[in-house]
Amino acid sequence: RMREGLEIPDWFGYPEVVEELRKTYPPRARQGLTLFFTGLSGSGKSTLANAVMVKLMEIGGRRVTLLDGDIVRKHLSSELGFSKEHRDLNIRRIGFVAAEITKNGGVAICAPIAPYAATRRDVRAMVEETGGGFIEIHVSTPLEECERRDRKGLYAKARAGLIKGFTGIDDPYEAPETPELAIDTTDCSPDEAAQQVILKLERLGFID
Ligand code: PPS
Repeated sequence: RMREGLEIPDWFGYPEVVEELRKTYPPRARQGLTLFFTGLSGSGKSTLANAVMVKLMEIGGRRVTLLDGDIVRKHLSSELGFSKEHRDLNIRRIGFVAAEITKNGGVAICAPIAPYAATRRDVRAMVEETGGGFIEIHVSTPLEECERRDRKGLYAKARAGLIKGFTGIDDPYEAPETPELAIDTTDCSPDEAAQQVILKLERLGFID
């Protein structure tokens, strides 16, 4: 699904042509990249996204932009609610920004719930069209654990009927079927989870 960097042997000749080709098909370690975390509320998306951002900044080489659910809702989607239409619009906006960042060689880290598979697929297409990578990471912490944590007290409110259409309670979450990576944070620390993401990026060639 991802574009490979072009390997051109030294004996090939035509230096001008090779230079152009290398610009068009840079190795993955120099391509832009979108890391798209998706999962239930309280699954650990934001914590993991932050930990990965810190690690990528330590590694260096690319500029990293965090498009966390809360940040986007505040600055980009403040007028939107949680109907299917509004959630989809929110995710498409995130996808647009991520694609721009990816096109310019940066790393976009997104961490919304993004409950609908078709919308996630569209975002993948938007990003891959830029020639950069799209890595979908399902933060697959099960509902029971998210609800047990209930960091924001929203599950209790949703169970009590005070919030309608809450993801996982009375609103759908379509789990990714073939994400690049799935991480259940029930029994692993944010640092361990972030390390799994970095390892995956190394294996895919996005980090040298
Ligand atoms: S979406 O579906 O991708 O557009 O959602 P997102 O922008 O990530 O926002 C999710 C956060 O909004 C809070 N919240 C709700 N979540 C789910 N369903 C309903 N009805 C809802 N109402 C408010 C909730 O705190 C989510 O935060 P996270 O960070 O995911 O826990």
